[in-house]
Amino acid sequence: MRLEEARRDQYRRLAKEEGYRSRAAYKLLEINRSFHIFRRGDKVLDIGCYPGGWLQVAGDAVGMDGLVIGVDVREMDVDGGRGRGRGQGEEDGGVGGGFGANIRFIRMSVEDDALAARIRAVGVNGTVDVILSDVSPNLSGIWSLDHARQIHLSRRVLDLARVLLKHDGIAVLKVFDGDMLREFINDARRCFKRVYVYKPKASRKESSELYLVCKGFRPAVKSNRSGKGADDVNRIEKIGS
Ligand SMILES: C[S@@+](CC[C@H](N)C(=O)[O-])C[C@H]1O[C@@H](n2cnc3c(N)ncnc32)[C@H](O)[C@@H]1O
Repeated sequence: MRLEEARRDQYRRLAKEEGYRSRAAYKLLEINRSFHIFRRGDKVLDIGCYPGGWLQVAGDAVGMDGLVIGVDVREMDVDGGRGRGRGQGEEDGGVGGGFGANIRFIRMSVEDDALAARIRAVGVNGTVDVILSDVSPNLSGIWSLDHARQIHLSRRVLDLARVLLKHDGIAVLKVFDGDMLREFINDARRCFKRVYVYKPKASRKESSELYLVCKGFRPAVKSNRSGKGADDVNRIEKIGS
């Protein structure tokens, strides 16, 4: 068995044993260990949350004084899966493990202009502390198309941050590597004091996904896609496995 397959199997087995609903949970656990994303009591938004591994990790990290709101176009029953008795991971055909009472779910697209209002309606009175996005479009197999679609969705997450993220808040954004990434990172850098590009060990090496860990949100700064150039990107710290 190749090393990469063995590693994937290891995370799948671990997710099953520990009751996480997806292997993706280990990417967020790793990001949180390295970048200290969550604090007890935080309000968190998780865009593209199905099947819910990140929701479980964030829910555990913020505790019962916190709140985690998941958003996805796929239906999910967080109420039916309450409690930490973890079942089989969704990727293995099981129903997946449980959720704490601090988790809410909204079935909606991040492209929907009414999303911010819906989020406010489920208990965000003001702003959130953290925005997570692991959003991924249905893959066509045509890389340029999949890359463009994923960056488009990530831009919608950034738009949502401009409306809902608190001053000095944090965003963790999955992105697909490709020719539109540089411009997207430059846009993120205009909204955040620091942007780190990170590849977790739990992310397959052959996968072109990367994670932007964005810290120090500056709400007043507006998007300016045509502004600064490559020098901005060169100053981005690159951290990876
Ligand atoms: C890789 S999965 C997320 C895995 C999740 N982080 C976990 O830990 O289980 C990506 C998700 O993005 C969702 N998605 C795709 N397009 C979306 C959109 N327009 N709005 C919201 N979610 C979307 C997909 O339905 C899919 O569930």
